[in-house]
Parts: sequence; C-alpha cells; structure tokens
Amino acid sequence: MIIAIDGPAAAGKGTLARRLADHFGLALLDTGLLYRAVGMAVARQNADLDDPGVAEAAAIALKPQDLEARDLRTDAAADAASRVSAVPGVRKALLEFQRGFAAHPPDAKQGAVLDGRDIGTVVCPDADVKLFITASAEVRAERRYKELLDRGLEAIHGRVLADMKERDARDSDRAVSPLEPAKDAHQLDTSDLDADQAFAAALGFINSANT
Ligand code: DC
Repeated sequence: MIIAIDGPAAAGKGTLARRLADHFGLALLDTGLLYRAVGMAVARQNADLDDPGVAEAAAIALKPQDLEARDLRTDAAADAASRVSAVPGVRKALLEFQRGFAAHPPDAKQGAVLDGRDIGTVVCPDADVKLFITASAEVRAERRYKELLDRGLEAIHGRVLADMKERDARDSDRAVSPLEPAKDAHQLDTSDLDADQAFAAALGFINSANT
C-alpha cells in the first residue's frame, strides 16, 4: 500500500503522514528532508544556492547519514531546500531514491507513506491513495510561528508569513514538478481542523478508496 501526501509547508502533512504510517504499519519517508539535506550541503560549501551545477552535484553525492544532520529542521534549511528543489538535476537525482523507497520499503514493511510536494503527481503516480493537504497561508504561518517559539527560537510573525508566501510561490511556480494536486487526489483543508480531525478525515478517504 502506498499513500502519497502532498501540500504546502505547515499544512499538517508531516503529522498526518506519521499517524497514517503508524496506523497501517507502513514505512515513512519525509521527502522534504532530502531537499533540505541537499540545500544545507550547498550552504555548508558557502556556494551559491541558485547555482544548478553545485546543487545537482550535492544531490548526486547525498548519503543516508546526511539526513540525520541536526540543522535540517531550521528555516535556513527550508529556504535552501526550496531553492535547490527548483533545479531539474536535483529532482532527477532524488527521484530514484524516493521510488526505490516506495518499491522496497525498509524493515520488511508492506508499503509506505511518502510526503512532499510531487509524490502523487511524479514520484508515485500509481499510489493507492493520494491526499493533498492545504490550509490558509495565515493558519500555516501561525502554526510555524508557534512551533519556532516552542523550540525556543526567536521569530517575528510577519516575517514567518512573508517567508511562507515566498516559499509557496517558488514551490508552485517552478517549471519542474511544481506543487499541485494530482487529478485523483483527495483534498483536505486543515485550516479549521486539529491533528485528530485531520487524521479521521484522511482515514475516511482511505477507507472509501478501499471499498
Ligand atoms: O516539506 P518541507 O518543508 O520539508 O520541504 C522543504 C522544501 O523542499 C520545499 O519548499 C520544497 C521542497 N520539496 C520538493 O520540492 N519536493 C518534495 N517532494 C518535498 C520537498
């Protein structure tokens, strides 16, 4: 069983993906981490984040241990990821890894949940279930702002919202694999839902797809 979850940042994809993976006993791949690791590899070389050659080379050289770097959850990593992810060579280099994960999930699991931006459209177009999770930019910025404060980091609400909108535009407007719902995706707006309600709604879609 393959579950594809796409949508913009802070829409609730990550939490939902983890809960669905636990519920169905599936492997989980947060594909944003791959792009974050590539972005941070470029940043650590002090290279230009918009240089396609450097970004592609970093994607080709990516190792599993790079996904464990502690700085991948920072806003700097999110920004770097959003920039390198527009490079076709980066997407190509990461595609095989993602498809391999879905085809041969680790730990003898019988399937996988992948979350990202182009899972239902490009990485796993034949997924059994496709979910496209959204929420308003204001709600997503508010969630992100609270998360940063909870982690003891400084944040300015207006800045978080502006960054969110900038990243949304970059992810949606890029030429290769832009953020967009697959034609057969179930769309779920979590603006007024908590994590339990979003999980219940997703289970409803999955059960209806299997009957
Ligand atoms: O989900 P995230 O915030 O960790 O993703 C960080 C960036 O990576 C996001 O701005 C776009 C990019 N990304 C992508 O282009 N394709 C994916 N499947 C996952 C993430």
